[in-house]
Amino acid sequence: MSHVLRTARSVYVVGASEYGPVLQHWGDPERWPRIPSTRRASFETAADVAPLEFAAGGTRHTQTAELLVQGPANGVDGALLQLRSMDGDEHALHVSLVDERTGVEVDLHWRTAPDHDVVERWAVVRSTRHEVALPRAFGAGWNMPVGPGARVSELVGTWSREFSPVEVDLPAGQLRLGSRQGITSHEYAPVVALRSRNGETEAYGVALVWSGSWRMQVDAVPFREVVRVSAGVDDETTVIALAPGEEFETPHLLGTWSPSGTAGLARAWHAYQRQVLLRPVGPPPVVYNSWYATGFDVRVDHQLALADVAADLGAEVFVVDDGWFVGRTSDRAGLGDWHVDPEKFPDGLEPLVTGVLERGMRFGLWIEPESVNPDSDLYRAHPDWVYRAGDRPLTTMRNQYVLDLGRPEVKAWAAATLRRLLTRYPITYLKWDMNRAVTDGGRPGDPHSREWSVAHTRAYHRLLDLLRDEFPHVTVEACAGGGGRVDNAVLARCDVVWPSDETGPRDRLAIQHGFLSVYPPSVMSSWVTDEPDRLDTAPTSLEFRFVVAMAGVLGIGADVLAWDAKTRDRARELVARYRELRPVLLGGEVTRHGAPGDPWCAVQYALADRIVALVWARPDAGGVRLRLAGLQPGATYRLHDGRTVTGATLAVSGLDVPFALAPDCDVVVVDRVPADG
Ligand code: GLA
Repeated sequence: MSHVLRTARSVYVVGASEYGPVLQHWGDPERWPRIPSTRRASFETAADVAPLEFAAGGTRHTQTAELLVQGPANGVDGALLQLRSMDGDEHALHVSLVDERTGVEVDLHWRTAPDHDVVERWAVVRSTRHEVALPRAFGAGWNMPVGPGARVSELVGTWSREFSPVEVDLPAGQLRLGSRQGITSHEYAPVVALRSRNGETEAYGVALVWSGSWRMQVDAVPFREVVRVSAGVDDETTVIALAPGEEFETPHLLGTWSPSGTAGLARAWHAYQRQVLLRPVGPPPVVYNSWYATGFDVRVDHQLALADVAADLGAEVFVVDDGWFVGRTSDRAGLGDWHVDPEKFPDGLEPLVTGVLERGMRFGLWIEPESVNPDSDLYRAHPDWVYRAGDRPLTTMRNQYVLDLGRPEVKAWAAATLRRLLTRYPITYLKWDMNRAVTDGGRPGDPHSREWSVAHTRAYHRLLDLLRDEFPHVTVEACAGGGGRVDNAVLARCDVVWPSDETGPRDRLAIQHGFLSVYPPSVMSSWVTDEPDRLDTAPTSLEFRFVVAMAGVLGIGADVLAWDAKTRDRARELVARYRELRPVLLGGEVTRHGAPGDPWCAVQYALADRIVALVWARPDAGGVRLRLAGLQPGATYRLHDGRTVTGATLAVSGLDVPFALAPDCDVVVVDRVPADG
């Protein structure tokens, strides 16, 4: 028996076995079936060699499992899951598994759609009779016929160096990535790509839809042709407790297949995120954010002076970052007291808000609702609201503690704070930050405290849902000290993300290049800031910095009051150019050319009849000939200089980049001429 799930370009075929569903094929509809059967040696059980779509320890014995169960009343850990039912259609599959002896049940879900290539999967684990603990409850096992072994692509980093691509050659063994921080983390993005080690271009991607502590594991069993990826909430720091009758729905996972390598995976992820995750609103606005210009020194007159220039340059929203609330003169105090500082704003926030609106921009505000400084009225009133590991001393990072958002009263306070601010002031842009990892996770006296990260993450998601439901006109930007919380669950609830605190243009280019391999330009917030950058000190032209920011959602974070008239004129032109090309830059199909470490690199955006290429070059690059992707051989294209050529010619000759904008960067537009024109 086979159940065929269809996506836009692939099929995902699931068969039945005694121990549950097995993968029969995933990929090209013309090359089915692809999953080879593994010969069983006397050291293995049938369940250990089968490409099970979800396995429990106790069903499998010698190989890894997605589910570990402790404490069923028969005194035997694990679950012997057996298939109970399987039904669905070509875009959904539901499978029910049960361990009759212990009453542990698992419902598995698959979902696809005809207009993208992503398969969505998750599991619901239920204990019907006994109290059990789940030290691991991953959402799915993905079987990929790339083995033996695999080439695994990851996005890794640290603060200010997020989204660096890394490729691991994994001949055999396990590779485990994740976060124990309560947030997604700067270190690893919850997404991997797998290809065969022999260089085939066919590729598979798996992503976890979760914003808290997580774990993803790639398991390449020696000599097996199927390599397995599974993921879920972190199995090192989290244990799920289920009382009789309780159930746990795992975070969802996404899987995608492409015949054309990691570039094809990027297109598949972008299409899914644009069509399914992101809400269908217009493009995010051009931001002016005052953080890099003013730090904590927020003054009304100064902000209004900045707003004057920002509006003149073409900014569409003016965002006041950290430093606007009571007691916030440095990072040592004030977090938690979300009231306008009467010393900085003697007449309230209104003069600034009104001034910004009068200048034709929207008004935005920064907030960090999950954190509190010990030096704050909130902490003095509710010292019990922060995470605590028993009687261990609390740790501060950036002088702050983390609020236990999973507690109903804390979540209610955060919701009330958001509602108060968004109702009181005409705020239409909110930057939600989170500036530390959770190191003291735990709730004294609460036996479920090993689930704090799950409760926290769900509360965070519910608060973002509240913003969408009650304040749909507010654009929400997600941030966690830069790119510490970027994932598909955030993309489903926010409009933009801040990928990194690093804005130095060359470093930023590298961060963005990695970012775009998974996430789309329409969420990639990017600001032009001043030189020299703290980390990336190499000088570049103003144009270079602008073109880097144009690769996503352009913003300005510079001290524009210090810009001379010539710089402002040029900046105004570049913002206007960005706004004109924005539909293609944010909505177009992305192709990355070269890498930021090369003498030159480019990102191409293609939408309808237009291709826009952003190109960056080192001084020693020499001439740049760009081979645009996706040209139609028989079509005619009009180049930047007015010449027309056929797609076939352009594909062979390449496009000579004129560097008309600046010696180190360019923006090139190529239009397909309508057949009758
Ligand atoms: C974090 C963010 C920055 C800025 C500061 C404010 O570091 O990533 O963009 O908002 O906090 O404290």
